[in-house]
Amino acid sequence: MHDAAFTRFLAQHQQRVERLLDKILPDARIAPQRLHQAMRHAALGGGKRIRPLLTYATGRCLGVDPQRLDRPAAAIELIHAYSLVHDDLPAMDDDTLRHGKPSCHAAFGEASAILAGDALQSLAFHLLARTDDPEKPEIRLQLLETLAHAAGSRGMAGGQQMDIDAVGSELSLPELENMHIHKTGALICASVRVAALVAEIDEAASQGLGHYAKCIGLAFQVYDDILDIEGETEELGKTQGKDQQEDKPTYPRLLGLDGAREMATRLVDDALESLSAFDHRADALRGIARYIVTRRH
Ligand code: IPE
Ligand code: IPE
Ligand code: MG
Ligand code: MG
Ligand code: MG
Repeated sequence: MHDAAFTRFLAQHQQRVERLLDKILPDARIAPQRLHQAMRHAALGGGKRIRPLLTYATGRCLGVDPQRLDRPAAAIELIHAYSLVHDDLPAMDDDTLRHGKPSCHAAFGEASAILAGDALQSLAFHLLARTDDPEKPEIRLQLLETLAHAAGSRGMAGGQQMDIDAVGSELSLPELENMHIHKTGALICASVRVAALVAEIDEAASQGLGHYAKCIGLAFQVYDDILDIEGETEELGKTQGKDQQEDKPTYPRLLGLDGAREMATRLVDDALESLSAFDHRADALRGIARYIVTRRH
């Protein structure tokens, strides 16, 4: 897939996710309006949609009809949107800018932002549990289990706790890696896994994809830490320099910018290597891996 084709893949699928979420989220005129407005503010009109894109790209690699991936892809993005709302709260990273707009609590107040996060998470699970879903019940249960595990205390929420606990302290490299694998890697791995579950692929194919996901999940947060230093607020759509301001342990802090960049590149190479058994149908996955360490926001 050449650059133009990948750019088209990104744009088409970002649009698909935006439309899907717009349909899934309750109308802002429905009571309680403030909560529905806050949910829509957090989930619509911003974000790269990298997780659902990974789901569709994995599906493309495995020959799954994208329609069958709409619900899992949207559910994962709803969990992601919730995680950002809570991540931005004063009790956590205290960020007032997200996706180039006031963060949810800055726009709607802390109480509504907490509830919006809660409700986005519930909506994600509701979407996968709905009885009108034509997918096989065994697969739907596996999707639910995968997402619950990735979002919970042994996944994203657990990683966020490690992040909070680590403020002001020096983590070792393995500790930092463990934190990143949980807070960011878990949901990224789930994004690939849900498509593999729908495809019902064999163990060998699943292992290669699992390794790919693990590598890019870590690379994604390493590069997020780099962007926090090198990026510009305007382009990032979130406040640059917050990690240092909040005394967060990051890869650049531990390895220096060059060391962190090398590490991210190495992880992406490793991710690409684990796709070597796949033909051109894995090109969107390859494109996403490269995009992770070349993006500007
Ligand atoms: C930001 O994620 C938080 C991390 C887990 C690093 P994204 O970079 O994917 O957030 P979007 O694209 O703004 O939604
Ligand atoms: C957030 O990591 C990870 C989540 C689970 C939301 P960061 O705190 O680095 O994300 P940004 O930089 O605020 O987007
Ligand atoms: Mg954070
Ligand atoms: Mg943050
Ligand atoms: Mg960050």
